[in-house]
Amino acid sequence: MDFKTRKNGVALSTARSTLIAMIIDPQSIDPRDMYHLLIHLITPRPIAWVSTVSVNGKTNLAPYSFFNGVSARPPAVVFCPANNREGRKKDTLVNVEAVSQFVVNIVTETNAEIMNQTASMLPYEESEFDAYGLTPVQSETVRPPRLKESPASLECRVHDIIRIGEGPLAGNMVIGVIQRIHLSRDILDHQQQLDPSRFQTVGRMGGAAYVHTRDQFEMQRPS
Ligand SMILES: Cc1cc2nc3c(=O)[nH]c(=O)nc-3n(C[C@H](O)[C@H](O)[C@H](O)COP(=O)(O)O)c2cc1C
Repeated sequence: MDFKTRKNGVALSTARSTLIAMIIDPQSIDPRDMYHLLIHLITPRPIAWVSTVSVNGKTNLAPYSFFNGVSARPPAVVFCPANNREGRKKDTLVNVEAVSQFVVNIVTETNAEIMNQTASMLPYEESEFDAYGLTPVQSETVRPPRLKESPASLECRVHDIIRIGEGPLAGNMVIGVIQRIHLSRDILDHQQQLDPSRFQTVGRMGGAAYVHTRDQFEMQRPS
């Protein structure tokens, strides 16, 4: 990777041990190179396929893989729409700032390709639901619809939006508390319990790479 130095900063320092061959000072490299490093190091990442609405009710759908669960009590999630390269907010962030609600739809092998399509930059007024023939289903507790093509959806209310930095590529953490969880019949077992073997989520690696989640192994925790 070709690291660019900032000012007179040194991007790479020499090895200080036989194990560490490179030490990187984040201040000294271009944010785009930092982004490249992070998305290859922090892997695999779960994907939130986030539906939101504008104040006028126009729907929006986009994937976010800086995403995770935060707590079970209350049940909460976080996802992070970065500012774009011009420093502007993504449509999802504009919407959750205006209407403090969103739905996280789960991404599986079955809907992964169309999820990827919805990452394209459409004009703000255009809905990815319409553009890609996806089916909005009215939510119970929030205005943004859930996505019929996803086997599980989490209706959320915004708890907090935390800015990390400012300008191009700066981060915004959107924390939401889950109000309702929808599970399709296909992913429940005979006792109406969630059966993880009935749906195959996918994870995001760096660049265009993704992983299946079928190749699993077990480790018992020490008591
Ligand atoms: C699998 C996947 C994960 C992504 N994760 C993020 C992310 O965590 N943060 C981000 O800012 N953009 C992420 N993107 C890019 C956004 O989806 C893309 O910028 C999209 O156009 C944003 O749409 P919006 O403006 O309608 O919110 C991701 C794209 C893909 C395909």
